Amino acid sequence: MVRDAYFPLTSYNLGEFIEGCTFDDFILKPGHGVLQSRKDADISGKISRNISLRCPIVSANMDSVTHYDLARLMAEYGSMGFIHRGDDIGTQANEVRKVKRDQHGIIRDPYTIAPNCTLGEAKTMMRQLGIGALLVVNDAKSLLGIITKRNIKLRGFSDKVRKRMTPFKEMIVHGGNDLPIDEAKEMLAENEIEQIPLIDKKRKILGLITARDIIKRQKMPYATRDKEGRLMVGAAIGATGDYLERAAELVKVGVDAIIIDIAHGDSIVMERAVEAFRNKFDDFELIAGNVATFGGAERLIEMGIDGVKVGIGPGRGCITRISTGFGVPQLQAVYECYRAAKGKVPIIADGGVRQDKDLVLSYLFGAQSVMLGSAFAGTHETPGEIVNRWSQIPEIKEPVLVPVKVYRGMASLSAIKARSEEEIEEEVTNVEGIEVVYPLKGSAKVPLSRMMNNIRSAISYGGAKSLNELREKFLENPEQYIVHQSGASKIESYER
Ligand code: XMP
Repeated sequence: MVRDAYFPLTSYNLGEFIEGCTFDDFILKPGHGVLQSRKDADISGKISRNISLRCPIVSANMDSVTHYDLARLMAEYGSMGFIHRGDDIGTQANEVRKVKRDQHGIIRDPYTIAPNCTLGEAKTMMRQLGIGALLVVNDAKSLLGIITKRNIKLRGFSDKVRKRMTPFKEMIVHGGNDLPIDEAKEMLAENEIEQIPLIDKKRKILGLITARDIIKRQKMPYATRDKEGRLMVGAAIGATGDYLERAAELVKVGVDAIIIDIAHGDSIVMERAVEAFRNKFDDFELIAGNVATFGGAERLIEMGIDGVKVGIGPGRGCITRISTGFGVPQLQAVYECYRAAKGKVPIIADGGVRQDKDLVLSYLFGAQSVMLGSAFAGTHETPGEIVNRWSQIPEIKEPVLVPVKVYRGMASLSAIKARSEEEIEEEVTNVEGIEVVYPLKGSAKVPLSRMMNNIRSAISYGGAKSLNELREKFLENPEQYIVHQSGASKIESYER
């Protein structure tokens, strides 16, 4: 496309200009900075019609990426994680449940134990659930007392809970359904206790407030929380088989958004699945994907979904483009889908981010949030075994043992085998993903914080105060920002 003083880049010809292009093709010209400090930049975005994120990065629903650990961390940082659908329904629902129970304002259904159970049973329950106390209730579910780790310490495991619990008459409780957090804090501190049960007149449990939750809430003021103060989490389902049963179980344990995630989201399989989902779950927050074209996004939006996931083949673990010849360069795909969405629902750019500047370009070309897989590979919070691999590090002459974790595409042979109940015939299986090993990187907090800071810096370089403002300025006048890089300029930009 010709681009000069007579034909500058505008929102009318941007689509044509970026056809066939992706992240490394472009670099951005700085604008006039308007922020006192980069820390002030607002990076918030959206993952779906009704879910805003202080940090618009989500972790991918892949079995080597998002389980409870990463989903919790993402939510604590103002982002969100999506639990994959590679496990059986019960296991996936349990990962969601763990996130939803990790932090609360008020726990509405606290774990309980019967008075005749043993201390050994109480200890096992606490360990499995990762909690420090259980409310003791009778058959009618009325509160009898509380048993904590402290009560169990140094006691015989066969002793009955009844004998060692703090009985009701010695407990501090609150009568009623609600208790403002500030008052709860005061009560916890004054009485030097860790829990306050909320009860009705018949001692039936209405909720539980814990010191641990209040402390976490203070430490993580930007976390992504639901109305009850619990961390938010998403999960994926398929479009055939047991997907509605899976969705029902996920909704039951409190999932906040569901993604119908299939390789080719612009299809009749997806149409049927969205229709059946809407019939059963009404207006529950629903994201669908993946698509990579104007038409694909338009069709999903017409079906009434709340977010469009975009990306066919850009991912680190994907070989779809190599295997089938189909796909759309990711930046072009994001922009086409953004145009199709016409601001009705957010676009989620999924896959292909190798450097932090790719995030920034995704946002500017229309994404309201970005989904990442390999960016978290090798971090402490991802699932998977750590194995040692002999490797050569350039500065060290001899081979060294490096601890690594496997990151794998969900359509890789090992991922397909792991989720299949039947024997897989390797030779005839349709494989569209690969496995890659990553050295251990420490906590996912490190890449996540770095990315957030780099997005803030980009907003400052772009002459805006927020990501949304920068996107608007960029799309209004792309000519002001876009530089199409030559081969030499790519070397200057990226080779070190
Ligand atoms: P990144 O680049 O962040 O990409 O690692 C994550 C995204 O890759 C997609 N994905 C796949 N795509 N075959 C594919 O074609 C696969 O086996 C596969 N596994 C994951 C997915 O959209 C994910 O969010």
